[in-house]
Amino acid sequence: MRYLGLLIALCLWPLEAVAEDFFQLKGHGGPIKGIAVSPDGSRILTASFDNALGLWVNRQPQWLEGHDAAVNAVAFVDEARAVSAGDDFAVRQWDLATGQSSVLGHHLGKVLSLAVSPDRQYVVSASWDSRLGVWSLTGAAPRFIQVGANVNDVAFAQQGRVLFVASADGRIRVFDFDRGTLEQLFLSNGFGVNTLVLNEAAGWLAFGAVDGVTKIVSLDSAEVIKDITLERRPVLAMDMSRDGGMLAVGDGEGYILLLNRVDWSIASDIKATHRGPIWALAFAADGQNIHAGGLDDAMFSWPLSDPRDAPRMVAEDRDFLNGNDRASNGERQFQRKCSICHTLTGDSARRAGPTLKDLFGRPAGTVPDYTYSKTLQDAEIVWNGQTIDALFDLGPDVYIAGSKMPVQRIARAEDRADLIAYLRLYSDIEDQ
Ligand code: HEC
Repeated sequence: MRYLGLLIALCLWPLEAVAEDFFQLKGHGGPIKGIAVSPDGSRILTASFDNALGLWVNRQPQWLEGHDAAVNAVAFVDEARAVSAGDDFAVRQWDLATGQSSVLGHHLGKVLSLAVSPDRQYVVSASWDSRLGVWSLTGAAPRFIQVGANVNDVAFAQQGRVLFVASADGRIRVFDFDRGTLEQLFLSNGFGVNTLVLNEAAGWLAFGAVDGVTKIVSLDSAEVIKDITLERRPVLAMDMSRDGGMLAVGDGEGYILLLNRVDWSIASDIKATHRGPIWALAFAADGQNIHAGGLDDAMFSWPLSDPRDAPRMVAEDRDFLNGNDRASNGERQFQRKCSICHTLTGDSARRAGPTLKDLFGRPAGTVPDYTYSKTLQDAEIVWNGQTIDALFDLGPDVYIAGSKMPVQRIARAEDRADLIAYLRLYSDIEDQ
């Protein structure tokens, strides 16, 4: 799967592009619910449960304070301005040069999503007061559009003439933007529609729902083009890369599904966190990374080229490391990739694999309380820095073909070195 993703990525990306690595944006005091990338791609805005927005330049935050409750949605208007909204029912406009904001107005319920009009004159807010708010960015009076059900998401279409509106009653409706009138009941899903993405040039709309339904439908007929529903619910976040080449879908079970929109094949399926939802997704401007927010206080960004070999969200680290986020990379490698099958204590504790205590200098297949495969018992390997490195550089399937070890490689030499250094801490015998 990883190689398929890489292949697709190589076909889609400009050759001169420099792949960005995995990174995190750390500093918020609560989970992240919204993410936006600036038009020129140089800045990221994060919206958090801690009531603040983070404006990130070169991974350094500037905190934008003003909301009185969790911030759910954030969008850039242009390079100089942004808008945000959240559980305090307020829609705010930000001057990004000064960090100052003003309230455009209030809903009577929490606000879940924002859409900026193509001409950048308006922002539309989707609220659980069953209305859309239409806020002028040029000083005109605000107005509301009655939808008739809690509104989860909204998107502009037809050069800003219409709005596609996703609601908790399972409907996607089309409203005339200027008149505020209902034009069409576009489709009915039965369960609430949480998120939608439009690609007008390609003629489709993608939506994700509470019951896990994820579909791509024709913008003309609402006919299903592709049903990508998996047994994962609810679907909470979606984004499309700027070139329209990739669609990302995030769900309540912590997966991020990356679809190649040429044939809707799965480019990658990342289990981004052990526990908890993916609330926010945004592609980097160049489409090389996918940014995600969930229960973690940090925004995570995975390179599409190799998303599987990077860290996962905290739920996992916290579970395994008991809140110790100062763990070394080696410890994290071990916890994430080995600890489910191996202990570092004297006994193998009925795990799938033998204890890795005192591994260095030990001939393969010799822990007394463990039943090895014949392959490993017969292997003439002594475990040391080089052999462990080779095991995960080549993969157990290549290095000791026929062993019970699962197929697993650790692509980065530094990760292997850090892991080996960590394992060495649990060996009394000196390595040669
Ligand atoms: C899903 C389970 C699983 C995971 C994950 C796993 N291993 Fe193993 N490992 C095994 C099994 C099973 C064996 C025994 C294979 C056999 O008998 O053929 C083994 C054997 C080994 C051995 C040989 C031990 C000996 O005494 O000869 C080493 C070294 C090893 N694993 C290291 C690791 C490291 C390091 C990681 C993490 C990067 C890891 N393993 C991840 C299941 C696992």
